[in-house]
Amino acid sequence: MSEQGFKPKHILATGGCGFIGANFVRYVARNHPDVHITVLDKLTYAGNPANIDGLPQSQVELVIGDICDASLLERIVPGCDAIVHFAAESHNDNSIFDPEPFIRTNVEGTMRLLEAACKYDVRFHHISTDEVYGDLALDDPARFDENSPYRPSSPYSASKAASDHLVRAWTRTYGLRATISNCSNNYGPYQHVEKFIPRQITSIMEGVRPKLYGTGENVRDWIHTEDHSSAVWEILTRGRIGETYLIGADGEMSNIAVMRMILRLMGCAEDAFDWVRDRPGHDRRYAIDSSKLRTELGWKPVRTDFEAGLQATIAWYVANRAWWEPAKAATEARYRAQGQ
Ligand code: NAD
Ligand code: TYD
Repeated sequence: MSEQGFKPKHILATGGCGFIGANFVRYVARNHPDVHITVLDKLTYAGNPANIDGLPQSQVELVIGDICDASLLERIVPGCDAIVHFAAESHNDNSIFDPEPFIRTNVEGTMRLLEAACKYDVRFHHISTDEVYGDLALDDPARFDENSPYRPSSPYSASKAASDHLVRAWTRTYGLRATISNCSNNYGPYQHVEKFIPRQITSIMEGVRPKLYGTGENVRDWIHTEDHSSAVWEILTRGRIGETYLIGADGEMSNIAVMRMILRLMGCAEDAFDWVRDRPGHDRRYAIDSSKLRTELGWKPVRTDFEAGLQATIAWYVANRAWWEPAKAATEARYRAQGQ
């Protein structure tokens, strides 16, 4: 079944006060002013209402609440014609230290949303990660595609894998109109300071040496969050129901190369970082083959100059110190408690 030409009028964006959700809400508000958006967000440590500040109140409304709250979903889901599900506990290091909230939000929360979407026949798009496929060897030319086997390594990626399986089960068993996208590592504005790139930028700004896990050889496949948003819009409006699409922008880079680039762009010596203990179970390499999305839906990333994107991201953190500073000390305290 195809969803060719589906035009949502009212999207429920769960987790719309987080990094990727807020960038998507901003993308839709900018490019599709006729679409109304309800953001449902629990405002955990990772959610910040300032991320959607300045958007027209007539177009975007915020409901503060938990995706696990079935009675709240009963009130807000019937008014929507699409759910784009971003809400999640999203940080691997936290999941290793305390997996429970990951199972609750990512697994139980997704199930509650699926139940509500099914009951009210609402189109569902599930935002997931390439980490469900585990990792690739550094010297392996292979990349993940839609047929790659599920092999999650961390409690985070295992909980996301579980949520993907639930979406497929609801599609096949109950006829839910759903699609799934699995995207590679995002970067850009509004990313929480716990994540690799913002952590290093903000540490350097505070005069603290940034920290590289293990050997630094691990490879991530970077995509600008703006390209993730455009891909999600294409899949939501033109993707085939029941299908999964991998999203990636051919941005493979080792952590040490990214670290050196950040230091150089910020005017520091490229070796001005500390090596720290490796993350347990640290995935070696992620790499995405996004041919299906490109061929079937004609999607193309446009923010593919990584150095230019990184420079713009650094400029954003420099210009928005008041946005990240309140979260920085608590984040570093959390890392210290985790032994990082
Ligand atoms: P984030 O941690 O920045 O934001 C998550 C948001 O979800 C926050 O606003 C938080 O308050 C909200 N939330 C958490 N638990 C909730 C609950 N129980 N009820 C309602 N809201 C809740 O995460 P992100 O990096 O923006 O990731 C968003 C989605 O994209 C996640 O599903 C993640 O798995 C996926 N993803 C992330 C990346 C990446 O590079 N960050 C890559 C691929 C996929
Ligand atoms: P992260 O942003 O946590 O994303 P993910 O675990 O989903 O890939 O980390 C990106 C990479 O950077 C990952 O290989 C771990 C590494 N890393 C560091 O080397 N130092 C750090 O301080 C952090 C937070 C991550």
